[in-house]
Formats: sequence, C-alpha cells, structure tokens
Amino acid sequence: MTPSPVTPESIQHAADLLRLGKLVAIPTETVYGLGADASNPEAVAKIFEAKDRPADHPLIVHLAYATQIRNWAEDVPDSALLLAREFWPGPLTMILPKNASVPMAVTGGQNTVALRVPNHPVALWLLRVFGGGIAAPSANRFGRISPTLAQHVAEELGDKVDCILDGGPCSVGLESTIIDLTDSQPTILRPGRIGPSQLEEVLKTQVAMKSQRKIRAPGMLATHYAPNTPALLCAKDALLALLTEQQRLGKRVGVLAFSAELSALPCQHSLRLPNKAGDYEASLYLSLRELDKLQLDSILVEQPPASEEWLAINDRLGKATV
Ligand code: TXA
Ligand code: MG
Repeated sequence: MTPSPVTPESIQHAADLLRLGKLVAIPTETVYGLGADASNPEAVAKIFEAKDRPADHPLIVHLAYATQIRNWAEDVPDSALLLAREFWPGPLTMILPKNASVPMAVTGGQNTVALRVPNHPVALWLLRVFGGGIAAPSANRFGRISPTLAQHVAEELGDKVDCILDGGPCSVGLESTIIDLTDSQPTILRPGRIGPSQLEEVLKTQVAMKSQRKIRAPGMLATHYAPNTPALLCAKDALLALLTEQQRLGKRVGVLAFSAELSALPCQHSLRLPNKAGDYEASLYLSLRELDKLQLDSILVEQPPASEEWLAINDRLGKATV
C-alpha cells in the first residue's frame, strides 16, 4: 500500500473504507494513526491484529468536534470542557468515564474512554466526512517508534492497511499529552507538547504526574518507542568519551545531539537536532528511524535539559534508550 495524495475523492474513499470496517492510516499533528470505525468492534479488532498489540491496551477515539464528547463519555466534568475549549483541536487526549455505547474493544475492557480532537486538516476533513469517532493508535508495530511520515506507515504496516492518507510530516512529532480526568485530581498519564503548567493554568488546580512505574497505558512500558539498535542516553562529556572508546573498539556508532559543541564530531553517523524543544520534538522520531536503518552497533543520544519544555522528550528518550 503506497500513500495516497489527499483529494476530495481519496477522503471520500477513506470514509467509505471506514464504514466497511477497514483500516485507514491518518495523518495527525502528533503522529500518524491507524484508524478504524470506533463503533465497530470487528474493525477495531483489526487494529490490534495489524499492530501486534495486546487486546487489553485501550485506544484513543478521535472526534471532529468537541461537542461529540457526550456521544462517548458518561460524565463530562467542567474540567474537560475547559480543556477542550482551550486545547482542541490539538495534541491533548482526555480520559473520561465511558458511556454504555462505547465498545469494550476500544477501551481494552476499561470503563473509561480516551478522546481527542486532532489538529490536522486531513484528519479533521476525514472525521467530518465520516461523521463518527475514529479509534486510532499510532500507526507503528507495537513497541516501535511512532510514524511521523506517511512513508513510515507504508514501510511498517503497508500490507495491513487499506489506505494511507499522505498528510505530509507531522508538525508536533510526539504523541499527545494524555490527562486522566476521572479522579478528583487531574493526572497526566503521558507527557506531550501541552505541558503541566499550561494545563494547570486552565484548570486552576494542581495536576499530578502518573508515576512511570505503574503500567496502565502501553506508552508507559519501558520498552516502548524503541529503535532496534541499542540506544544510550548520556551527558555531553560522557558521550564524547564513550564515542571515542567505542570507535577504538571498532564499533559503528551513531550520535543524536543538539549542542553546538557536539556539532563537529569525528563520527560518520552524527545527526544534529535543533536545540529548541519544539523543533527537536518534530524531528526526533525521524532521526531515530534514520539512524536505526544504518544497522549500527549503538546510538548515543545526548541527554536534554531537565526543564518542563523537554519533559515529553525526556519521557520518550527514557523509553527509547537502554
Ligand atoms: O498523539 C496521539 O495520541 C496519537 C495520535 C494518532 O492521536 N495516538 C497514540 O495512540 O499515541 P497510542 O494508542 O499509541 O497511545 C494511546 C495511549 C496509550 O498509551 C493508551 O494506553 C492510552 O492512550 N489510553 C487510551 N485509552 C485509555 C484509557 N481509557 N485509560 C488510560 N489510558 C488510555
Ligand atoms: Mg503508540
């Protein structure tokens, strides 16, 4: 399956495929999603099969409009309405109590549902033409790096999907922030572009951070988002020392760095990422994929700062590295 250019016809075709219970890969602003009709349990089952994903891992339901929340959630707290008004369409997923009509196949047997209105013209166009909710995890094999180009989906799941809509590169490049609103205190289950202080500013209350040890979302598994090549996170100086040492041993090493000091390394496979968190995010997965293809012995990743704007990046790098 090669990616289809976006036209009124290809959008109509994709919506028809969804109605027939087929799988469609969709561009969003975060990463590409592997979509199915969220109201059709057999269609949803195909997602798990295509990704090799355990069936108890819940999916995000994508909607065209915030007003559709009530079709999927039982109770809609004011906090959800506030966040939707501020951040939708956008890279924020809310966990709410599900209503009776949401198939258990979507929620992995849980009584909550994850909802998001994505901010990508192609995703929104398809959602509007389709009319219903589209259940979509990231369009990668379970445990691998999320796709930020249509080509990535074609390479990894090309034989499993019925259509790949090519919406160009994803502008955010990291998966959405997930916030659980089912408890009295809102809790971030997965950090993303929308950070805790932005959420706190809107909610006027403190937001908790789910401990990374408790596995509720598959994005929290330690092996998630990983390249095949062993990747190691290291501070700038340690990185230089390790690179020299590995090269002395005849190893083929890749480097992913952002500091100016590491811009001219004696290393063939060195990629320099932007030193602004937002720009870094947008090219991180692409760069990891690029280095992964070279069948190197290892990838050394420069440790980013610990500040809030790098929170989601540090979270994903922690999972991509050994
Ligand atoms: O940016 C994104 O969120 C992308 C695009 C395609 O929208 N989607 C995405 O889906 O990253 P996925 O399936 O790769 O990750 C969704 C996360 C999983 O960690 C899942 O466990 C969590 O959302 N999730 C879904 N429903 C949940 C629920 N009811 N309770 C807790 N976590 C839930
Ligand atoms: Mg995923």
